[in-house]
Amino acid sequence: MLQGRRVLLAVTGGVAAYKSAYLARLLVEAGADVEVILTDSSQAFIGPQTFAAIVGRHPHTDLFHGHSVSPHTDLARWCELVVVAPATASTMGKIANGISSNLLTATVLATEVPVLFAPAMHTEMWEHPATQRNLSTLRSDGHHFVGPASGALAGGDAGIGRMAEPEQIMEAIAGILGGSDGSLRVLVTAGGTREPLDPVRFLGNRSSGKMGHAIADEAARRGYQVTLVTASDLAVVPSVKVVEVETAAEMLEAVSGIEADVAIMAAAVADFRPARSGDEKISRSEGLSSIELEPTPDVLASVIDRENRPYVVGFAAETGDLDRAVAKTMQKGVDLLVYNDVTEPGSGFGSDTNRVVIVDPEGNTDRWPLLGKREVAARLLDRVNADLSARG
Ligand code: CTP
Repeated sequence: MLQGRRVLLAVTGGVAAYKSAYLARLLVEAGADVEVILTDSSQAFIGPQTFAAIVGRHPHTDLFHGHSVSPHTDLARWCELVVVAPATASTMGKIANGISSNLLTATVLATEVPVLFAPAMHTEMWEHPATQRNLSTLRSDGHHFVGPASGALAGGDAGIGRMAEPEQIMEAIAGILGGSDGSLRVLVTAGGTREPLDPVRFLGNRSSGKMGHAIADEAARRGYQVTLVTASDLAVVPSVKVVEVETAAEMLEAVSGIEADVAIMAAAVADFRPARSGDEKISRSEGLSSIELEPTPDVLASVIDRENRPYVVGFAAETGDLDRAVAKTMQKGVDLLVYNDVTEPGSGFGSDTNRVVIVDPEGNTDRWPLLGKREVAARLLDRVNADLSARG
């Protein structure tokens, strides 16, 4: 199931650490190549020798005294997925706040691959507002979670906070790495195009590119080969290939040269451009009473019309008309449409959150709650993965 996949198992200090040895064994049995990090506190519960015997390598325990000069970046770049199991409240808090105080937290902060947390702690700690705040930060940063479950806890207590069972953690790992054999080619368009009127002025829109860039980041973290054609200058993780464009015509040209299995068209492409745009600035004295417009090329349609058509996700930023988005899904022939109402609080251009409705070609709608754009990206890729798996 995970033949040859490189998984980093990061173990923190909770009694559930004993189950992580079994998780290590399941990973090895599934064919994964496994490295283990143990924090100091985890070793109060389980020893390095146990993991060494199971995975055939000594666990990494120290940021400073090993052979490597930079063990955290070595491990961060080596793996395809990090699973933090068990994940204590302390480790969740450190990572949510960017604190790298040991090899484990430094590695998680240094990696670009998906990170799956399997939290384990007492109910009171799980329900504490600080933990819930950290959980929501980690989720909106694009991290994945499995559990916790309800059941027996340390010291004879019971309640929510028990680490998910290793079999469940395995399923979550397979779900994330599932389609990502590293060869899935994902094309993402992002940002609002700018159509020049003269060398100084343009017709544009309010799109920031945050949604498309979050999708590119998340796809890269899953190990996909990602090309981002963008009219936004926001940063993305280094493994994403970025093609910067300004106009719809440049976007069309860039996209036409990119082969893809999945195309996620999140760009807000101008529908019209000035029919003429001179090399010289139009001066006030010349006067300009009107701007003649002409249509821009439809980038999405060019991808749909390909002979070797990828799975295509379209976006529709509307002002409250879901029926229009449902009709658009069918008209455009996309495999999925992501609708959002830009007039809703938290869903407008430039916002870090989004409330979307997913529309499929049969007109079925799936309303998602208000989420961080990174979480929307993660759920969207999960949905695309599920559709691709169903198609075989
Ligand atoms: N799109 C595109 N090229 C264009 C216009 C739109 O690739 N020239 C893509 C967008 O990236 C988005 C989808 O088409 O994924 C829908 O964009 P939208 O502007 O909502 O659709 P339009 O066809 O422009 O419909 P309308 O303006 O009438 O709402």
